[in-house]
Amino acid sequence: MYTRKNQRNLTRTEKQRLVAAFLELKRSGRYDEFVSVHVQYYTADGETGPRAAHSTPSFFPWHRQFLLEFEQALRTVDPSVSLPYWDWTTDNTPAASLWADDFLGGNGRKRDQQVMTGPFAHANGHWQIAASVTEDRFLTRNFGGPKGRVTLPTKEDVAWATRDAVYDSAPWDSTATGGFRNKLEGWATGNADKGNNHNRVHRWVGGVMLGGASPNDPVFWLHHAFVDLLWLRWQKAHPRSGYQPAGPLDANDPQKGRIYSLNETMPPWNMRPAQLLDHSGLYRYA
Ligand code: CU
Ligand code: CU
Repeated sequence: MYTRKNQRNLTRTEKQRLVAAFLELKRSGRYDEFVSVHVQYYTADGETGPRAAHSTPSFFPWHRQFLLEFEQALRTVDPSVSLPYWDWTTDNTPAASLWADDFLGGNGRKRDQQVMTGPFAHANGHWQIAASVTEDRFLTRNFGGPKGRVTLPTKEDVAWATRDAVYDSAPWDSTATGGFRNKLEGWATGNADKGNNHNRVHRWVGGVMLGGASPNDPVFWLHHAFVDLLWLRWQKAHPRSGYQPAGPLDANDPQKGRIYSLNETMPPWNMRPAQLLDHSGLYRYA
């Protein structure tokens, strides 16, 4: 049992050790294996085949297991570290300590969005991007999006999703208008914006965070740790609501075989969503 802390409360030593563990996974090649898994499972509604990770009910359990596997790898390097979370409703500007030189480094420069500061700047020699969907070998960010108009989600945006007592609803993809999952994943918006909550954070950071290779930015893990915590908060707010769909879909449902109900096993770990609903035996949030 270990604790995942709010990143803003990490000590200087805790940040140093976490950064060192990230760099060691990068050096050993393990980090890029995680990026490749995410690229492989970055499947959208319009594509054929199953969707385990995105635009799908198993968005939360799939990423919970993905983070657990990564955290395990980090803790093999240094048993004292765990994944912190980034509460982007509070630390919602480029001035947040998250982006300082002693932690994740800052925004990309104008010309090519290349991150020039902090331990993950390409020029420092320890963060070469290998598994990617673009040619760039350096970490990129573009805070606020191309026109600087994207803002981070607010507490009210999160509350709007969390208020929904239904976990997910048909058609179980990015077009579902009801349900906590699609409101928090961020395809259902509730306003004219092009995406909310989880998706909007990817858009606000920009650069490599925009696509399937988004784990190339270490902030991916801190973002998804907060998404994981928000799932827990939703569970606590609605103790009688469970994962949906609870049983297999009808044979004639167009999503049959494409999504994962409560007891169907998700690749690549053959884990069922039912096994991932409760993390309290493994870690807790502070
Ligand atoms: Cu993902
Ligand atoms: Cu994400």
